Amino acid sequence: MKQKNIIIANWKMNLMPEEEAGLARQILKQQKNILNKVEIVLCPSHVGLCHVNEIVRKTSIKLGAQDVAMKKQGSFTGEVSAMMLKEVGATYCIVGHSERRLSLNETNEMINKKVLTLLVEGIVPILCIGETYDQRSSGKSELAVLNQLKSTLKQVSGKLPLIITYEPVWAISPNGPASPEQVAPMVELIYQTLIDMFPQDLLDENIKIIYGGSVDGGNVKDYLDIPRVVGALVGAASLDVDRFGKIIKSSM
Ligand code: PGA
Repeated sequence: MKQKNIIIANWKMNLMPEEEAGLARQILKQQKNILNKVEIVLCPSHVGLCHVNEIVRKTSIKLGAQDVAMKKQGSFTGEVSAMMLKEVGATYCIVGHSERRLSLNETNEMINKKVLTLLVEGIVPILCIGETYDQRSSGKSELAVLNQLKSTLKQVSGKLPLIITYEPVWAISPNGPASPEQVAPMVELIYQTLIDMFPQDLLDENIKIIYGGSVDGGNVKDYLDIPRVVGALVGAASLDVDRFGKIIKSSM
């Protein structure tokens, strides 16, 4: 049986907690009849997690966070641990998003620690990797992406679920989108590299590859038609119930 596609909403820092809860409520209402055909994950801000959890916890919509601390516990002012995320109902968490890599100087080593701490708590990491515009124009896309992939997955055994998001930085809205012809070879390269890193059965069972960057209702199907792509990470278009609804509908 074909596995369900997974559509992940990344709301970034765009909505107030009550608005996040309201949007979750609208999505739930709109998607009631097709919830079991597509896996939907909503990633509100940290302060919106409890609010959104109240709406989705008894449904098949899953809750995700947008970041996690590297450390398990202790004196780390402002940080939120994987254990805390789990406590408020998050079962997924985005890590390594380019906005954090670029504006907060997150390194592959830091992201690797975050992946490992999430796996300890049984939270599925949504690991973002992707080249910048400069790396692409200087012919270094493959090098950059594979370096990110290998460094951020150090010591990861593949025994637990993991989502790898290929998200070219230059394709994130308002730039982009990337064409499926640009995305397909990189996805294949990522998959072939994963084959060298994990036993085939673990790879097939536990590791999904998805695409992110300017995804909307008009193009999502083209990305999902790329071999090995089983979902999408959606930013701007997930902030509106109708735009998001079109993406879900095209992903069934
Ligand atoms: P976008 O964002 O869909 O607005 O391009 C995707 C992301 O940054 O995760």
